[in-house]
Amino acid sequence: MKLGPADAKALDDALAALRRGDVVGLPTETVYGLAGDASDPAAVARIFALKGRPADHPLIVHVAGIEAIDAWARDVPALARTLAGAFWPGPLTLILRKQAHVLAEVTGGQDTVGLRCPAHPLALQLLRRFGGGLAAPSANRFGRISPTRAAHVREEFGDAVPVVLDGGDCEVGLESTIVDLSGPTPRILRPGKLGKAELEAIAGPICEGAAGDSPRVSGALASHYSPHTRTQLLTREELVEQARRYRALGESVLALTLGSAIEGLDGRVLADDPDAYGHDLYAALRELDARRADRLLVEAPPARREWFAVLDRLGRAAADAPEVAP
Ligand code: TXA
Ligand code: MG
Repeated sequence: MKLGPADAKALDDALAALRRGDVVGLPTETVYGLAGDASDPAAVARIFALKGRPADHPLIVHVAGIEAIDAWARDVPALARTLAGAFWPGPLTLILRKQAHVLAEVTGGQDTVGLRCPAHPLALQLLRRFGGGLAAPSANRFGRISPTRAAHVREEFGDAVPVVLDGGDCEVGLESTIVDLSGPTPRILRPGKLGKAELEAIAGPICEGAAGDSPRVSGALASHYSPHTRTQLLTREELVEQARRYRALGESVLALTLGSAIEGLDGRVLADDPDAYGHDLYAALRELDARRADRLLVEAPPARREWFAVLDRLGRAAADAPEVAP
């Protein structure tokens, strides 16, 4: 994306908003963030209030580059610089031990801080001009679908967020991979487009999944990224069968299928490719959700490593749905 005069004006507005303690909609390559000055308790409080997020769920601090790590983290392992050197700017969040000044409101009272340098040119420009760190969760109300377009952020918050920088469609479409480097062994806390194999090629063996004593990750709640519509994750055969059953009960059904449509079933088709699917998933869920059907039936992608991040998000989107009556 090339930045034009309209972007320069929008960046000025965003910078002014941040400096007066307000929040802005921030495009990143993963999803849009709701950004505020990470050193300003009032701005951070505003983020939590707007999102309706519980206070003990920590926020990621976005920084302009690898040089900023030491300003926010201490006892930084060499691996942090190696990973940041390889993947920043990019869809990787590192959990590190925090510097004393990092607000407890940002870290959910924990001794660690999440750091990420996003790859979107507007986000990078804003961070460089702002100078400090930007606390930014995904710009959705708590538990709902993350936004991948500026219009989604406006849908979520309306005029309550004065400036939404429009950076177009998010390139990745799924939230960053989170790697915890605050303990004795590196651990992936949230899967993302940047996968285990790519990380391990640089970092050596990395564990996966939350350990008993690992830090809290709000995206790790079973039900998260949820549409309003009751959503189920099924095989193609099950989907056909369940659609028939629900319709016989008088319910309206939409389908999100893989690679091709199912005859007679309305909905959306997403590409049979993990990156393309990840790019389109949240926008498709939003669009289908807006149609307020009784049921959303999602065809599960194959249970293979390359689909891991997508499967993780689909599993959470479907977590609320009750079991199907036989
Ligand atoms: O791609 C992303 O990461 C996007 C964009 C905007 O950067 N942000 C995002 O933020 O997904 P959020 O708040 O929706 O999810 C951040 C996750 C949460 O699950 C939070 O619990 C976790 O990061 N997190 C933040 N700081 C942490 C910490 N100190 N320890 C453990 N988890 C942490
Ligand atoms: Mg989120």
